[in-house]
Amino acid sequence: MARTAMSPATRDELAREPKRSVDKERETWLQAFRRVRAETETRAAHLSAEDQIVQSMADASPTKWHRAHVTWFFEQFLLVPYDLVYRIFDERFPFLFNSYYVAAGPRHARPQRGLITRPNGEDVTAYRAHVDAAVERLIGEVPATEAQRVFSIVEIGLHHEQQHQELLITDILHAFAQNPTDPVYDANWRPPRATQGPRGFVEVPSGIHVVGHNGDGFCFDNETPCHDELIPQVRIARHLVTNGEWLEFIAAGAYTTPSLWLSDGWATVQTEAWQGPGYWRRKDDIWQVMTLAGFKPVDPATPVQHVSYYEADAFARFAGKHLPSETEWEVAARANVMADAFGIAWQWTRSAYLPYPGYRAVEGALGEYNGKFMVSQMVLRGSSLATPEGHERLSYRNFFYPSARWQFSGLRLAEFV
Ligand SMILES: [Fe+2]
Repeated sequence: MARTAMSPATRDELAREPKRSVDKERETWLQAFRRVRAETETRAAHLSAEDQIVQSMADASPTKWHRAHVTWFFEQFLLVPYDLVYRIFDERFPFLFNSYYVAAGPRHARPQRGLITRPNGEDVTAYRAHVDAAVERLIGEVPATEAQRVFSIVEIGLHHEQQHQELLITDILHAFAQNPTDPVYDANWRPPRATQGPRGFVEVPSGIHVVGHNGDGFCFDNETPCHDELIPQVRIARHLVTNGEWLEFIAAGAYTTPSLWLSDGWATVQTEAWQGPGYWRRKDDIWQVMTLAGFKPVDPATPVQHVSYYEADAFARFAGKHLPSETEWEVAARANVMADAFGIAWQWTRSAYLPYPGYRAVEGALGEYNGKFMVSQMVLRGSSLATPEGHERLSYRNFFYPSARWQFSGLRLAEFV
């Protein structure tokens, strides 16, 4: 069959098509970049300059540091390698605002971030503006041949910044909780309400299931590769454990009963003198809790927050249940059988944070993002009230040390059939 000659008009259209599609992507990334960068500033806007300097413990960072560090991430991993005309904003900043990337050079000690009063907040605002302008220019002008690489680093930079948006909130709440005047982050903040409806347990589909990220859209490297996992006969709680249930746990003497606890957990209860979840204090014989809206009576209907893995594990033992594994959680989430999987509290699982079979960290400094932390921590699934919109995923693996409780961490139970 004779081939039909292509008309000049069609040829021109085809030649233009890749450019048009890259231009569309430029616009998409530009909007995403502006949206995420603005959200950081929206969260910081509730805080004074003094609020933004404070570091209440080694694990928590000052707001000012978060605002600068996420900016350094774009400078270090996007602008320096891909923008040939970019000039470093301030040669002192990479040392101050590198977090843990050994391959990216030396860095200031994490526990001393709160000692850095200069550069001040206005300097950090100027740093953000400088980097914003350069990133926006790069998104608009990068040659089409390099565009996908640049967009992929913009993408990880935005997800990285969203992680710090959550940390900004959890870290300032920890700082405010140390202040005897019980400062308010946002007087209009209200705790998210748990979904109503029948409680109890629901079956998780048993058998072999594929878990991990399936390749559609963004994910962090620790969610890959997707792989088969065997699910036993297990049921998972429809709802999150509530403050009311936790009050019963306390009333039953759980914090003074060593047999309920893992050895490390019981040691932590002793050394930290825990008597209830993080930020809980008894006042006038009533349990109250430090929240983003200040110090409030504990609401029994609200899902419990700020519990460590040790406490979650002890509660499960007390209840005669166990915590779900991260695989059980993910299969249940994919089957949509749980209420409040996202948006209220990260949920501790009984799974250690380990690489998936076949996991390889990416080459270069960005390979330090997740892989080097895969020891001694436990996985949390879901998302919390502080997780920015669009950041949650079925395959998302959060991880913290088992004693950590300054995150919005809660739990749901599971039981074997
Ligand atoms: Fe970071």
